[in-house]
Amino acid sequence: MTKNVGVLTAGGDTPGLNAALRGLGKSAEYRYDLQLVGFYDGFRGLLQDRCILLDETSLSGILTLGGTILGTSRDKPKKMLVGGKLQDMRDAMVETYHKHRLDVLVCIGGGGTQKNAFSLMEKGLNIVTLPKTIDNDIANTDVTLGFDTALGIATDAIDRLHSTAHSHHRIIIVEIMGHNAGWLALGAGIAGGADVILIPEIPYDPENIAKAILERSRSGKHFSIVAVSEGAMSIEDRKRETQLMEDISAAKNKKDKEKANEELLKFYSAQPGKTMRLADDLQKLTGLEARVTILGYVQRGGTPSARDRLLGSQLGGAAVALIAEGSSGIMVAVKGVEVKPVPLKSVVDKRRLVPGNHIWLDTARRVGTCLGD
Ligand code: F6P
Repeated sequence: MTKNVGVLTAGGDTPGLNAALRGLGKSAEYRYDLQLVGFYDGFRGLLQDRCILLDETSLSGILTLGGTILGTSRDKPKKMLVGGKLQDMRDAMVETYHKHRLDVLVCIGGGGTQKNAFSLMEKGLNIVTLPKTIDNDIANTDVTLGFDTALGIATDAIDRLHSTAHSHHRIIIVEIMGHNAGWLALGAGIAGGADVILIPEIPYDPENIAKAILERSRSGKHFSIVAVSEGAMSIEDRKRETQLMEDISAAKNKKDKEKANEELLKFYSAQPGKTMRLADDLQKLTGLEARVTILGYVQRGGTPSARDRLLGSQLGGAAVALIAEGSSGIMVAVKGVEVKPVPLKSVVDKRRLVPGNHIWLDTARRVGTCLGD
């Protein structure tokens, strides 16, 4: 009997999503008796029942395209803005699922999407997920779809910043995405030969960074590249954050808790300007001119790398094979050169950060890179 499979892409887009959709759709059609329906714009399209049949015609020519042909959104099934109010819309999504007689829903996304997909599983739906995010921070998988392309883009940017930093004898600070994980900044920093790499997992001291930059100047290198992850924090800020979190846990009543929460929110809302503040600090501490480049969404745009096309195809094909066998409640994870199912529950509410003993940290230190500590 034909199985009906739904698919959606949710969270921030990444290059390689279309390769995964094509991998799903083509293997569903050629290898198995499966029919694939794509829902537009993440969980919102599932709620509103906006969909398209993903067959040979609609999947043709998309392998090399960036973004996602389905569109995406950061809508959460349990807290969706509908009629000006945040509402739990899962029952309506379950209705769409049954209306299409779906056997399984495939959700392709990052950490938030894994959690959102799990919330639909709790409502009785058969769910299979694929891990995608340029941040590379999903638990229980070696790598995520989109990371390789973003790594290439950020590395290329660092390469280009070298010549201008060198010509003007400047410090150039390049802010790299990654949310609260340092994979992208660390990987691109090493590959692009950044002189300083700052990641959220290692709080930094501006004085140590300045020392490393001045040391370079003394040895005749009058420019420096600082690769900073968007989530990186100074030692002082990390201490303040920890204190504010402790204040929330220690709050004795609702009013104190609200006040403590407000303070933490205030702290986080001041964070986005911190790369500019770091530039000011380094300028003052070193006497050198400092400039900031924020790479932003360029890192998520455009053509997927060969490796991401390969990974997307591999993940999509493996997901269909697992669905055909009757599997659900899983994420298709990358383990070495293989892709394997892991329980979706093992992924939810966890974040894969750069561990203190990771080989990339040693690699950076071995070539004399300052990590700010
Ligand atoms: O999770 C991917 C990511 O690109 C992060 O690196 C970044 O912090 C975030 O998304 C940006 O989110 P948005 O697309 O909602 O602005």
